[in-house]
Amino acid sequence: MRLDKDRLVVGIDAGTTKVCTLVGEPCENGNLRIIGVGACPSRGIRRGVVVNVEETEKAILASVEKAERIAGYKIQHACVGLAGPHVSSMNSRGVVAISRGDHEIIQEDVDRAVEAARAIAIPNNRQVIHVIPRGYIVDGQDGVKDPVGMLGFRLEVETHIVTGAAASVQNLVRCVQKGDVEVNDLVLDALASSEAVLTEEEKEMGVVLADVGGGTTDIAIFMDGAAWHTTVLPVGGSHITNDIAVGLRTATATAEDIKIRCGYAVAAAVDEAEPVELVGFGRENQRVVSRRALSEIIELRSREIFGLILGEIKRSGYDGLLPAGLVLTGGTAELSGITELGSEILQLPVRVGYPRSLEGLSDVVSGPAYAAGVGLLVWSIANRDSPAKPVKKARPPRKKKPGGLLKLLRSFVP
Ligand SMILES: Nc1ncnc2c1ncn2[C@@H]1O[C@H](COP(=O)(O)OP(=O)(O)OP(=O)(O)O)[C@@H](O)[C@H]1O
Ligand SMILES: [Mg+2]
Repeated sequence: MRLDKDRLVVGIDAGTTKVCTLVGEPCENGNLRIIGVGACPSRGIRRGVVVNVEETEKAILASVEKAERIAGYKIQHACVGLAGPHVSSMNSRGVVAISRGDHEIIQEDVDRAVEAARAIAIPNNRQVIHVIPRGYIVDGQDGVKDPVGMLGFRLEVETHIVTGAAASVQNLVRCVQKGDVEVNDLVLDALASSEAVLTEEEKEMGVVLADVGGGTTDIAIFMDGAAWHTTVLPVGGSHITNDIAVGLRTATATAEDIKIRCGYAVAAAVDEAEPVELVGFGRENQRVVSRRALSEIIELRSREIFGLILGEIKRSGYDGLLPAGLVLTGGTAELSGITELGSEILQLPVRVGYPRSLEGLSDVVSGPAYAAGVGLLVWSIANRDSPAKPVKKARPPRKKKPGGLLKLLRSFVP
């Protein structure tokens, strides 16, 4: 089959435990065909943030090259996922007057309103990642989804604005660019995962998505069809693994192995006498521990993670109004018993989000750990018609030419 290179989209999700590059193309039937996958262990990223540039560059390059080999395509541009506790969000309203004679709202008015919402005081060391229009108000009438073509005197837009620490964002961009790949969009991981697993009805009803990865828990709360609150918590599955390693005095690799093979998030549901064999180097590491004891450690940390998610739901002001419940993605969503524990703590329906409507190499990326990667492709396809906005390298600030009074004074100096 010949590749139509103009239709291809690429996503790079550089996480704490794995870096994953995906190449895909939209199908006629609305599905997404995955034609290249490159997943490599991540090094150099902690809690979603680059802490070792060289290691991160190497991991990203390895993952890009792997995906290129499988797809038979040289990757030039990619949509890149972003996480890390430096990310913060707020809601902002922009207002403009429609002063033309016919008072018909045109796209330019909508753009002006979004620009007005964006014009909030953001410190120099922060970079705007998203300005997402949530809805419009025309002459006091709210609930307007698309105001273009309506008549009015006053247009207001409600937006959700996501910002990140400029240095952290640019470190990630530079690591991708080092691999000869231009970053044409940056997308918050939680929003990318939402694209892959949430339905429009869930977003309309009110839903919270939590991508519980290795080092971060990325949260996005949707109401009335749009993002209302987003945040990144610096806790994830690697904390569960570390707790097991410390609690049962095992190597980290052994702790990871038994967590995945035998762990259960609700300890009381596990038989007290059930044994778990530890497989490690040396005779002293070949021990048997109780599965109940293992699950108690897992439950404790999982409860903490759900407690933090509940805290964010309350902080967002939408406690009790999320009928579609919680959708879990990220590798930790595969932990046995996690949905059971989640619904007990949150008192909400909880499900695991698997990327939907995939073709091609779909078996490789059908797990919740690939939701963010797949979501980057869905996001790219949805935003492809919007004008390209390459994310530029962080360059040193240009020296300002002297102007005004200084220029005048210099003209008198011989
Ligand atoms: N079956 C399983 N049971 C329990 N935990 C699992 C399972 N499979 C994967 N995990 C955990 O999922 C985590 C990795 O998830 P994921 O691949 O989503 O992380 P990441 O995207 O690299 O990290 P982050 O998004 O936090 O930067 C690891 O902590 C791993 O132990
Ligand atoms: Mg992740």
